[in-house]
Amino acid sequence: MPEAHQSKQNEPFQTGLVTGDFTAGYTSCMPTNAPTTAQSDAAAPDTTILDPHQIHSQAAALAAHLQRAGVAFLPQTDPATADEMAAWFLPAEDPQPASQADVPQVASPQAGTPHDGQSQAASQQSPVTGKNAQTPAPASNPAAPASPAAPASPAARPRRSDPVPAFTSIEGPYPGVLLPIADRQSRLDELAADVAACTECKILSDCRTQTVFGEGSVAPRFVFFGEGPGADEDRSGRPFVGKAGQLLTKMIQACKFRREDAYILNTVKCRPPGNRNPDVEEIANCRTYYEQQLTILRPEYIVCLGAISAQELMKTKLSVGRLRGKIHQYMESKVLVTYHPAYLLRNPAAKKAAWDDLQLMMRDAGLL
Ligand code: URA
Repeated sequence: MPEAHQSKQNEPFQTGLVTGDFTAGYTSCMPTNAPTTAQSDAAAPDTTILDPHQIHSQAAALAAHLQRAGVAFLPQTDPATADEMAAWFLPAEDPQPASQADVPQVASPQAGTPHDGQSQAASQQSPVTGKNAQTPAPASNPAAPASPAAPASPAARPRRSDPVPAFTSIEGPYPGVLLPIADRQSRLDELAADVAACTECKILSDCRTQTVFGEGSVAPRFVFFGEGPGADEDRSGRPFVGKAGQLLTKMIQACKFRREDAYILNTVKCRPPGNRNPDVEEIANCRTYYEQQLTILRPEYIVCLGAISAQELMKTKLSVGRLRGKIHQYMESKVLVTYHPAYLLRNPAAKKAAWDDLQLMMRDAGLL
């Protein structure tokens, strides 16, 4: 293979060289009416190398500088408001969009406790930049805006996308005894029957075609934890079988194992009507089901796909952008947070980050 070609394949998400492969870049997962990478490459410069967070943080630094310099066209040119102004230039939220993969910040009863990871080291090595961010973590919530009275020092300000230190949401071990593999399927079948009969959420149980319990190996090393069924899943009774599911399958295959070697489940087992996000009560009603599934399976790794599952499992309000890039812990399982495949379908540029996340897990698991 020519050298140039080879080095491009080492950055799989930046290229479209291996069509049909999740690691092949953006082309294979774009909507069919969207221009391919090759088409858009010809028409316009490649913007995928731009880091929006870097741009925002540079804009924030410039705004703060102008503010300090007393530039008149900026409103309220007193230094005390520089931080506030600079914050306008920062991304308002994690880059998850507003749809099923995108999740409003689910209020968690435990958010703001040490479980959200904030009480850990204020200064951390950024897995994105490799630089020591030296971020003075706020005592209560790292995602909270800086105090207006704080001195303007945008260079030291943590970016809202900076990963937080790894943390444990619930200390292990899993309750009860580890079931022999032979008994796990029957226990899961009993639980699936309970789920199928569940009418705890009136709207969801009235609207569903069927419940979507989960599927896969009963002795999985890796569990993929989604949000809730969509229309295709509601019809088939199986998780992740629509377009997002097809991408998930490619992501799993890119990790060098088969979909059936993993276990796939969702936070909620019924399709929220119109693909809206499940609400706090619906998530709480379903909690006992996914908790029991995980307790039966006791996977080595749980991959949270998107904010709903990540915030629920990790008992936090932190965004995916902040939770990703680290290996967290839930009971005895390691937890990796990454973008939901539905989000990746709409935002192919984020596939690079998702692939980085999966590679982090593969390295940890000894698969790389
Ligand atoms: N999105 C999810 O979160 N889960 C599914 O099963 C399908 C789409």
